[in-house]
Amino acid sequence: MAFTYFFRDMHTLRLMERHAIPQLRSRRYLNIWDAGCATGVESYSLAIIFRENMGEFLFRNLHIYATDIDDQFGAVVSAGLYREEEVKRIPGSLLEKYFTPAEAPGHFAIAEPLRKAVTFVRHDLTSLQPIREGLCLVVCKNVLLHLPSERVALVIKMFHAALAEGGFLIMEQTQKMPWQAKTWFRRVAADGQVFQRV
Ligand SMILES: C[S@@+](CC[C@H](N)C(=O)[O-])C[C@H]1O[C@@H](n2cnc3c(N)ncnc32)[C@H](O)[C@@H]1O
Repeated sequence: MAFTYFFRDMHTLRLMERHAIPQLRSRRYLNIWDAGCATGVESYSLAIIFRENMGEFLFRNLHIYATDIDDQFGAVVSAGLYREEEVKRIPGSLLEKYFTPAEAPGHFAIAEPLRKAVTFVRHDLTSLQPIREGLCLVVCKNVLLHLPSERVALVIKMFHAALAEGGFLIMEQTQKMPWQAKTWFRRVAADGQVFQRV
């Protein structure tokens, strides 16, 4: 099972909130790609943060494509059902607001508007085929670390092609931008891996 949890790497999520969301929140369509989503807890964390910053009305314009090479996550992401141990990291007020106890004992269900905003698609990043174009945000964290650097550069080139101008790319703290990609993105936060497509 992939290692992941709700609101992982809050520092980078806060940078997203500060630098990316204010520029994106009022766009007519917000299409987001969460690449290497595993069980979807990252995708739903993104959905919660955007929903908190956008409000109910603008949130209807948002869609998250949650992709992973491993098909087994499809059913989990689509159901939006998580065990009590998984949701206990979520701050109390957000847990109450966005989750309800599910029929299955010891499980919580994500709120329906958020569940509907996230779609799982099986996708292999090394295919170098973007899930779609015109995206406003790509989040790819803790996925590329085992790939050789030339391959990472090709995947990041694909992300560049998938993003609309001014769209953002977010990676984990330890994933450095390869030298080939330095002219494709501008770094927006000195203390995190948040980049804007140029
Ligand atoms: C450690 S989890 C990261 C989950 C989440 N992004 C996070 O940071 O919490 C890594 C995920 O990447 C997926 N993955 C590995 N290689 C991939 C590839 N070539 N294409 C798409 N997903 C891949 C794995 O199946 C796994 O679910």
